Amino acid sequence: MQDILDKIAEKMALRTERGKVADYIPQLACVDPDQFGMAVVLPDGRQFSAGCADKTFSIQSISKVFTLTMALGKIGDTVWSRVGREPSGDPFNSIVQLEHEAGKPRNPFINAGAIAIVDAIMMSHRPKETLAEVLQFVRFVADDESIFFDEKVAQSELLHRDRNASLAHFMASFGRIKHPVEHVLGVYFHQCAIAMSCTQLASAGQFLVSDGMNLSTGIRVVSPQRARRINSLMLMCGHYDGSGEFAYRVGLPGKSGVGGGILAIAPGNASIAVWSPGLDDIGNSKLGTEALEMLVQHTGWSIF
Ligand code: DON
Repeated sequence: MQDILDKIAEKMALRTERGKVADYIPQLACVDPDQFGMAVVLPDGRQFSAGCADKTFSIQSISKVFTLTMALGKIGDTVWSRVGREPSGDPFNSIVQLEHEAGKPRNPFINAGAIAIVDAIMMSHRPKETLAEVLQFVRFVADDESIFFDEKVAQSELLHRDRNASLAHFMASFGRIKHPVEHVLGVYFHQCAIAMSCTQLASAGQFLVSDGMNLSTGIRVVSPQRARRINSLMLMCGHYDGSGEFAYRVGLPGKSGVGGGILAIAPGNASIAVWSPGLDDIGNSKLGTEALEMLVQHTGWSIF
């Protein structure tokens, strides 16, 4: 495994076409696009990594996997009265479909869906309490207490919130957001601003590899059925309007973030995290996808 990762990292270091870093969140535009990291955790807990796998980056939309898992834990299948589970075929921050579908987002991974999920997990809690819960959950699944919110990224997103604020207010106009919009957005921006390294992220994905169990800690996080369902959503919706392309090229459930990270799950085989800040036109990591494509070719881990 180490040989494969070293080869991939070597190839990626030579790439000149690295995509474009996200700049609609100014703090993300400051990140050096020449970085690349990758980490693989096997079901028995063995870890392998290459490149800057221990450098923290903004996990952004990858956090939506963890908040969806929390929401399912808190309110079970009621989640599906708040968001659908179909691919949207639209960009991650699109508003168009909400108007025709009574303000109900197509899935929990587009921005509108993730904002609705935050509203669901807030219950009767204050924003700070919800934030503490989100961080505690991510630390728990990663088995790492050092994971933190990057306040600069959260503030940057708050200052440039027009699109997400529009989505939230539009949903609220359909009666779909129960808490004050500003509270919901504050939690959402912080969850997106969680900073993690590839090593930490790959560890956090372990429960989705082994039927809901984190085999390293011996703790069951979710039931086998729920793990399968979360993986199915990642496969169909985890890369937005690029989900078909990702399934075609990589063939694994995956969740991307505009920070350039991707968490990919090879059920029964491995949890994989990759990071390269340059994005393709859709907003998914360009080299991250290429690296996963290579990994899967070498390992045969595609689910197809
Ligand atoms: O709300 C946003 O736009 C960002 N915090 C997250 C978007 C994102 O990561 C899309 N993923 N590729």
